[in-house]
Amino acid sequence: MKKLILIGNPVEQSLSPQMHNAALGALNLPLVYEKILVLPEELEQTIDMLRNELYAGANVTIPYKSACIPFLDKVDESAEKIGAVNTIVKEGSQLVGYNTDGTGFVRGLKETAPFPLDNGDVLVIGAGGAARGIVSALLAERVRSIAVCNRTYSKAEELVADVASSSLQALTLEKAESHLNRYSIIINTTSVGMFPHTEKMPLRLGTLRQQAVVSDIIYNPFETQLLAEAKKRDAIIDNGVSMFVYQGALAFEKWTGIFPDTAIMRDKVTEELR
Ligand code: ATR
Repeated sequence: MKKLILIGNPVEQSLSPQMHNAALGALNLPLVYEKILVLPEELEQTIDMLRNELYAGANVTIPYKSACIPFLDKVDESAEKIGAVNTIVKEGSQLVGYNTDGTGFVRGLKETAPFPLDNGDVLVIGAGGAARGIVSALLAERVRSIAVCNRTYSKAEELVADVASSSLQALTLEKAESHLNRYSIIINTTSVGMFPHTEKMPLRLGTLRQQAVVSDIIYNPFETQLLAEAKKRDAIIDNGVSMFVYQGALAFEKWTGIFPDTAIMRDKVTEELR
């Protein structure tokens, strides 16, 4: 039995072990997924430990998604651009870093959106690490346009300058609110509305278009205030469980070569959250 591990701090709240072990069990694979609480001074040694044949790969979570990069042998181009790794794969004798957060998000979004993503005009709220991954995955899908708004406007400008795409622009939160009906897809990548501050919303939905897709990467609570308001306005909503499941499924595929049953993973996560 080989091990897959989650490297992070804290890790006790993570549902990755339950989710991956459900998928591994369904396929009868000789792998077990465990989480490891890693202190900053143990990071290098923990990553090096993966070279032992007992280990088949790893996920990396907060606060080590960027800090782990110097200890890897190779980093996939898009993970390098984003500056964050959430998945470590053993390729021959090399430890290779990937990022499945943004691509996982987009995979979930494709299932939810009732139209092809290349018709989408997207508003991304937030300009942190999660937003960077999601913007880069959306651009790879050739969405028509992306506007990034953020509490700190200069960070939205910085993201847009770094990514440098003609389909991408920065916007103030106020402008985004007043022109909300321009967007067919609205994505919250901030922590605003997360437990315990569940009454908060990252943006007012006054002029939301009917049948817009509103997606939140938060899954605690299951339905954020943003999603509840969007539902009242006839939007199509998607919570953070989708991103969590698909980032996991894409990592699973990289470790094993098999794309797992996402319904099993989603059911397990939902069961644990309820
Ligand atoms: P992550 O890697 O999860 O994206 P991050 O890099 O710390 O985390 O980014 C957090 C994002 O949530 C940022 O866009 C942040 O806005 P600022 O750049 O203005 O800090 C946003 N955010 C966090 N708390 C917020 C709040 N209370 N109101 C508005 N935006 C908030």
